[in-house]
Amino acid sequence: MIKRPITLSHDFLAEVIDKKSIVVDATMGNGHDTAFLAKKAGKVYAFDIQKQALDKTSQLLESQGLTNAELILDGHETLDHYVDEPITAAIFNLGYLPSADKSLITKPSTTLEALTKILERLVVGGRVSLMVYHGHAGGAIEKEKVLAFVENLSQEDFATMLYQPLNQVNTPPFLIMIEKLR
Ligand SMILES: C[S@@+](CC[C@H](N)C(=O)[O-])C[C@H]1O[C@@H](n2cnc3c(N)ncnc32)[C@H](O)[C@@H]1O
Repeated sequence: MIKRPITLSHDFLAEVIDKKSIVVDATMGNGHDTAFLAKKAGKVYAFDIQKQALDKTSQLLESQGLTNAELILDGHETLDHYVDEPITAAIFNLGYLPSADKSLITKPSTTLEALTKILERLVVGGRVSLMVYHGHAGGAIEKEKVLAFVENLSQEDFATMLYQPLNQVNTPPFLIMIEKLR
């Protein structure tokens, strides 16, 4: 079956992660991406601004016996306060947490601040994936800003790809993939 964007996102990152890798989940939410990364990597730094996300994620990790994720109750834009090591991979899931307050959404300025800091710290060959949900209020502007930012990355420094359903109704999410070339 054709790969859904979220599946491709995980496969794209899994190809470069091993048990020595330092990775980032920039938007922890219910912890599905954190758990996925924790199974593959040496250490995961996971960020969210909602305590509910940390509670859900820590339950999920515990139920799977995963102990190598540091859950940080702070915005991803403060990543430089917490992460000193070079980063091998990072994931963003933009938008709101479905089971929580739908007004607590990722915002263009902080998303791009975090993405900039991650790209600076990314190892050569390191990868970032961004799932862009944009059907909610505020989503369209974030989509535009993130696309414009990625389109302006130098092609000598980064390879970038977009993976998007073409015939699905209701603003389906799409995937942006970035790989650092040098
Ligand atoms: C679409 S959800 C993430 C879903 C998650 N990846 C999962 O597997 O369940 C987006 C999350 O980003 C969080 N968020 C919003 N602004 C943030 C910020 N500045 N830093 C970190 N997380 C943020 C929201 O609280 C929300 O939990």
